[in-house]
Amino acid sequence: MRKPIIAGNWKMYKTVAESVAFAKQLNEKLKGIQDREIVIAPTFIATASVIDALRFSNIQVATQDAHWENEGAYTSSISPASLKGLGIKYVILGHSEKRQFDNETDERVNRKLKNVLKNGLKAIVCVGETLQERESGKTEKVIENQLKGCLEGIGLGDLASIVIAYEPVWAIGTGKNATPEQANEVHAFIRGLVAKKYNSEAAGNIRIQYGGSVKPENVKQLMAQPDIDGALVGGASLKVDSFEALVRF
Ligand code: PGA
Repeated sequence: MRKPIIAGNWKMYKTVAESVAFAKQLNEKLKGIQDREIVIAPTFIATASVIDALRFSNIQVATQDAHWENEGAYTSSISPASLKGLGIKYVILGHSEKRQFDNETDERVNRKLKNVLKNGLKAIVCVGETLQERESGKTEKVIENQLKGCLEGIGLGDLASIVIAYEPVWAIGTGKNATPEQANEVHAFIRGLVAKKYNSEAAGNIRIQYGGSVKPENVKQLMAQPDIDGALVGGASLKVDSFEALVRF
């Protein structure tokens, strides 16, 4: 009942030309797949060209951020209204690298989320604990606070446009992935939080992706867990064969 969603986050990799060539190759390989959502998030500068290369494709395009206003004096920022006009479907918000390097906060994610939804876009909202937080037994508290902050004032009707990505910071780009059971435990906890804040139907419907060193070798076991509905993938999404294997898990 929850459609799996496999997303590739390209971070700051690939030039525009490389991105377009890659998108075209992926499009050939993944043609006709309809039983799962396929999303790629190129760099901002490659977004328009990648969308052009994927007209009529089953691959949807995301960006890695968007601003909380549609216009204004915000040097270097990206308006969700222009993203919508381009044909973007998803916006990734609150990625741990934005939190770490760009001072992203739950409050900012919340403002951005509201504007993304207002523009008719969908969002992938990332949460996750650091190694230190996990080792000191704070995982659930951290996730609960992040989710509370990010979803503040978001109504039940908007939940269908939101995917949550659980990405333990210690597993991102480190090769150290959470075991499928460890990941599922947090996913089930997140689902419980959604049930508490909204209702059990909403909790049953919301999709929760796992992210952090997902690769072709471990995606199947992760996806077999009852509360894991997809993957948000960095490194292993940057090669055509590897991303194809992830999508086909
Ligand atoms: P990774 O990145 O797959 O390279 O660990 C995941 C992410 O940052 O979303």
